[in-house]
Formats: sequence, C-alpha cells, structure tokens
Amino acid sequence: MGDPGAVLSALAVPVIVVDGSDDLIFVNPAAEQFLRASAATLSGTNLQDIIPQDSPLLSLTQNVRRHGNSMSEYGVEISTPRIGEHLVTIDGAPLGETDGSVVLTLQEYTTAGRLDRSLVHRDAARSVTAMAALMAHEVKNPLSGVRGAAQLLEQNASSEDQQLTRLIIEEADRICTLVDRMDVFSETPVIERGHVNIHEVLDHVVKVAKNGFARHVEIVENYDPSLPPVFGDRDQLVQVFLNLIKNGAEAAPEVDGEIVVTTAFQHGIRLAVPATDSRISLPLLVSVQDNGEGIPEDLRRHIFDPFVTTKAGGSGLGLALVAKLIGDHGGMIDVDSETRRTIFRVMLPVVREAE
Ligand SMILES: Nc1ncnc2c1ncn2[C@@H]1O[C@H](COP(=O)(O)OP(=O)(O)OP(=O)(O)O)[C@@H](O)[C@H]1O
Ligand SMILES: [Mg+2]
Repeated sequence: MGDPGAVLSALAVPVIVVDGSDDLIFVNPAAEQFLRASAATLSGTNLQDIIPQDSPLLSLTQNVRRHGNSMSEYGVEISTPRIGEHLVTIDGAPLGETDGSVVLTLQEYTTAGRLDRSLVHRDAARSVTAMAALMAHEVKNPLSGVRGAAQLLEQNASSEDQQLTRLIIEEADRICTLVDRMDVFSETPVIERGHVNIHEVLDHVVKVAKNGFARHVEIVENYDPSLPPVFGDRDQLVQVFLNLIKNGAEAAPEVDGEIVVTTAFQHGIRLAVPATDSRISLPLLVSVQDNGEGIPEDLRRHIFDPFVTTKAGGSGLGLALVAKLIGDHGGMIDVDSETRRTIFRVMLPVVREAE
C-alpha cells in the first residue's frame, strides 16, 4: 500500500509530531516550509520555542494528550516574526497509546477552504441585513402607493387596461412578499434561546417535508438519541432545517431520490470568536445529505449569498437565511458537494451547565 514516508513528504499540509514534552520528533517538508526551518534544525526543538507561549496550538496539544482523543480548532492565528502571519485550522491526534506524542496538522485557510467559506457566509448575512432595512423603507412603502394607484385606475379602466392594472398589482404583491421574506434579516436578532431538543425539531421538519415538497424522496433519519439539547431558538432552527431539506428535495432525482438527516456528537470542534480570545465549542452536528447532481464548482463559493439561485422560481434567500440564523446561534455551517452526494453540515453549541 505504498510508502507512508513518501506519502507524508508529498502532503501539501504541514504535519508536525511532538513527543510527550512537546519536543519535535517529526516534520514533513510542508511543515519545514511553514516553520521556515529544516527538519535537521527543528529536530529536538521544543514547540514552545517556535510558537508563542499563549498559542492555542500548545493548549490543543495538551488537551489531546490529556483526553486521548483527536481535536480540531478552527480559526487560529499563528504569527511569529520568523514564520509570518497565518490563519489555520489545527487538527491534533494522539499518536500511539502511552508516550504522549501528538500529531498536528495545520491547514491554512486558503487550503482549509471550508472554513474560509463559512466565514464568508457571515459577511453575506451581514450584507443582507443592511439591505433588508433599505428594502423595507425604500421599496415597500412606495410600493404600496403604486399598488393603491393601480387599484384606483382599475375602477375606471377598460377591460383591456384592467389586465395591465392587474399586472401592476400582482407584481407589487410579489415584490412585497419578497421584501417580507427579507425582514427576517433585519438587524435585531430576536433570538429566544432555550433548551431545544433537536430531534423534535427534525421530526417536525421531516413531517412537513414528507407531506409537501419532499413527497417524492425517501428521507432517512439517522439520529444519535443521546444528544444533549441545543442552546437555541426552536422556530429558527425549524426554519434552518426546512430550508436545507427543501433544497435537498429539489436537488434529489425524481426516481430514487434520498435525503439522509444525521445527528451526532463531535468532540473537540471549536470555533475562535473573531477579535476575541474566546472560543466556543460546537459539538452538535446535524447534517443533511442528498443524492442530487451536486452544486456546480463555480457556484459553491456563492450559494450562501443572497439572490444566488439556479431555480426558475427561486429567490436565492434560503441559504442566506440559513447562514444568518446559524450565525446568530454562534454556530457554523459548511458544505461538501460532489455528484450524488451533497452534504450540508451544521455545527451548534449545546446548553452549558450554568444556562
Ligand atoms: N442540496 C443542493 N444541491 C445542489 N444545489 C444546491 C443545493 N442547495 C442549494 N443549492 C444551490 O444553491 C442555490 C441557492 O440556494 P437557496 O436555498 O439559497 O435558494 P433557492 O433554493 O434557489 O431559492 P429559495 O430557497 O428561495 O426557494 C440553489 O439555487 C442551488 O443552485
Ligand atoms: Mg432553497
């Protein structure tokens, strides 16, 4: 099955192995490049001598060692004068059973495209927020004037002209509905958090889906019954998963269409809160997978932006709303897509003891 050493050398991702006292015992060529030093120089150096003392890289390494399981941390800044500034996702895993060695892989944001994308999603949500306020003021109010005027005209118009006034009224109504849908984006996040049983949310959504838009697809529910409650807003979570399952149903083939909804508890997923030192743990994973054609490569970066749609009657607001609501919850969403296998993964915080 090939030479593992050669594989490690070929990997573009920096791989670093430290022993039980944080001394470097292995670096692959990508790590040499990242740390700007040769393996020979690095061998035996202590991690603490090359990375700032307070770096999450060090605490993650300790935690992996202490708990004996793998952990990831997203959005970690590693900057030193020598190696420059980097924003990375760190994955750490224990190597072997007893001696405390830990394997660390560092994915830079350019390669860790998934996180890159979820951060972009937050911006997308923010830009809709401003837009929503603008739309309500500058579009909806004048529009009701336009609608009223058309109604007045309608009264004295010939039947031919009435078709036109009807058209004005109908289109005005359509635009109003669209603006109403955008209202949810408006600034004040009215999020009423409580202990939410995510399976109750999903059961409800699946029932709605099966009786409506997802009639033609098989929905497989794959739940971990031991999951703790989410710290969230039930109705908003319903909206999130309705949108994701609706997209899945629209993407799934007419024949043998399938959506798999999975819940799981994931240890060690943490997200750095931008511009602070704190990190939130996002152990709850809900994924929605469909077997449709997948998301075209060139569209993937933009699907969370508002008004991006490939559907005839689509508004392109579904995923923008999802990104906004997940963001308000302090969670994260990302997507992997290939033909017959598109997965949206939502990571959410659980209720903490004090709450
Ligand atoms: N599961 C999926 N498989 C393939 N493409 C998807 C999937 N989910 C989303 N997309 C793509 O992303 C686009 C944006 O989705 P989004 O939910 O934001 O809007 P929409 O579904 O087009 O419209 P609306 O949600 O308002 O009905 C879709 O038009 C589609 O091209
Ligand atoms: Mg949609």
